[in-house]
Amino acid sequence: MTITVKTPEQIELMRAAGSVVAQALEAVGELVRPGVTTAELNEAADALIRSKGAVPSFLGYNNYPKSICTSVNAAVVHGIPGSYVLKDGDIVSVDIGAILYGWQGDAARTFYVGSVAPEVQRLCEVTKECFFEGIKFAKPGCHIADISAAIERHAQSHGYGVVRELTGHGIGTHMHEPPSIPNFVDARDGRGVKLVKGMTLAIEPMINLGKRDVWTLADGWTVETRDKKPSAHYENTIAVTDDEPLLLTLTRGC
Ligand code: MF3
Ligand code: CO
Repeated sequence: MTITVKTPEQIELMRAAGSVVAQALEAVGELVRPGVTTAELNEAADALIRSKGAVPSFLGYNNYPKSICTSVNAAVVHGIPGSYVLKDGDIVSVDIGAILYGWQGDAARTFYVGSVAPEVQRLCEVTKECFFEGIKFAKPGCHIADISAAIERHAQSHGYGVVRELTGHGIGTHMHEPPSIPNFVDARDGRGVKLVKGMTLAIEPMINLGKRDVWTLADGWTVETRDKKPSAHYENTIAVTDDEPLLLTLTRGC
């Protein structure tokens, strides 16, 4: 598959899909507190997405069984909502995708459950900062590796581990389109694709408090840190323009 460049009209459709994702994240964020199960977060997001005439893109994707991902503490991504009861001091990374009029939006936030240890709060803040450092290079003439390098540099300046097994990605009528957008640089890969106006990208730092190493649990989905230390995730779908990138999954509080 080749990289597709979207027209302004198509980007507006992606903004509509992105807005549904943002609203679902907000709805979930308002629900998060000690005593709530991750299944309840899934139900709330699913209902919000469908109420807007959209469809949750994760449900059934490679046989994924739920509508969103809820990854608690040492879980990095792809945690499956279920009977787990959130408790004071947890963090939960919520990843949501929706399809509207055939166009996709994809975004993630890490929420605090009650009162979270300061060093874990800092991890979450820095992970968000990594995204904003990265998108400083989401403009025509820059290369994918410029985004990757900025994310990696910021995370490493805090001594955090940068997950290598999962990456950001192009997005459009498919959730995962080329190019892949690593959160680290491998000199052997060169600078990657040069960005042009109209590219739409999901940029998603996954940053660990401890070491970068991860493994997949026996459920076949949940990616967890090897050292069991917490991990944070922050993702938005963006569009490259001649000027600042458009953030298609960012609205109001979330
Ligand atoms: N949102 C994830 C991503 O950013 C994909 C979720 S995988 C699924 O790539 F199976 F849960 F859909
Ligand atoms: Co994504």
